[in-house]
Amino acid sequence: MAALRDPNKLAISPPPSLIEVDQVCQTPTATSHNANCLQKASPSDDLSNYDTTSITASIVDYEYENGRRYHSYRAGSYPLPNDEQELDRIDLKHHIMRLLCSGHLYIAPLDSPKRILDLGTGTGIWPIEMGEQHPGSEVHGVDLSPVQPNWVPDNVHLAIDDIEDQNWCWPDNHFDYVHSRFMLCSISNWKRYIRKAFQHTKPGGYFELQELDCRFSSDDGSLREDSAISYWSDAITEASANYNRPIPRYGEYYDWFVQAGFVDIKQVILKSPTNPWPKDPKLKEIGRYQLLAHVEGIEGVSMGLLTRGSQWKAEEVSVLVAKMKPELKDRAVHSYQTNVVLVGRKPEFPRTPDSMKDGLSYGWKKGAPGAP
Ligand SMILES: C[S@@+](CC[C@H](N)C(=O)[O-])C[C@H]1O[C@@H](n2cnc3c(N)ncnc32)[C@H](O)[C@@H]1O
Repeated sequence: MAALRDPNKLAISPPPSLIEVDQVCQTPTATSHNANCLQKASPSDDLSNYDTTSITASIVDYEYENGRRYHSYRAGSYPLPNDEQELDRIDLKHHIMRLLCSGHLYIAPLDSPKRILDLGTGTGIWPIEMGEQHPGSEVHGVDLSPVQPNWVPDNVHLAIDDIEDQNWCWPDNHFDYVHSRFMLCSISNWKRYIRKAFQHTKPGGYFELQELDCRFSSDDGSLREDSAISYWSDAITEASANYNRPIPRYGEYYDWFVQAGFVDIKQVILKSPTNPWPKDPKLKEIGRYQLLAHVEGIEGVSMGLLTRGSQWKAEEVSVLVAKMKPELKDRAVHSYQTNVVLVGRKPEFPRTPDSMKDGLSYGWKKGAPGAP
């Protein structure tokens, strides 16, 4: 396991908050950066290599609304909370996804990746476990909320940034592996997002998207159309679209991978049961965790989306959530949500209609076949 470091250590003299030690994310190797990308500092970093800046307290000056806490950096852009209850849900979802992927953190065929990027890293659980599994890698995680733990493995670097910005703080063709998980309700333009991931992936590197279509379904008709769960699926879809964060159907991503220029695309569909109704012991276990995640977390997922996106009253959200809970627990209802995992490889000499249109260059070597 890699050594641990405390990225906040430099902040010990007052005030002991991470914002005092954050830095503009410009590493000595970076050839382009976004001045808004704020990185937690490592005590071992040579600060002379960085553009340092004092970041205002506004990053942790969280917003409170209807009993939940929300991010303040780029306030309002993400409609789910960032409080402890939501962080517990994110960690539970991490565990569920690992179970669905037979214990794996990823399915891409990685071979000693040097640089890894996790987009919308949440609690940081994925980059931390990834950093432990790959001590020879540099793992970067980026999020709007500084909610990650202070102690992280030495090779894990966490930054605060808005990935909806079109100017990411890393160079093009930089990462051997880019990972994005459960970013529904976060992204306004998925096609553009997947192209950005392509742009920052090294030729020969991989992009992996692990997504959830949160709409509930059943294959045997046991989930009734007039149930609160079905009503919720439609209401959340509509509210997220109103909020300019459309939730794609799980089958939509594949074409965006192709259009971005990825090749050797693999797609895996994974159903997660909403309670322990399946006979299969593994799915039963997943159902148990999923039920807990929903019972504890569905209010947080729904409150900001429905009140902000569709102008519901907070009490109306609470009533819907209360109606859903017995349905979620009912084992006669064989409902599930659909996860999709896609992996695409960036070719050595990408030349796609999209990449050419943008005039983007993806690291052709001079004189190589296909090089411009
Ligand atoms: C549902 S959580 C998923 C967390 C993590 N990817 C995981 O699977 O454990 C979505 C995360 O994306 C972050 N996020 C949403 N919009 C973002 C943006 N524009 N830029 C950076 N992070 C964003 C949120 O703050 C939240 O932590």
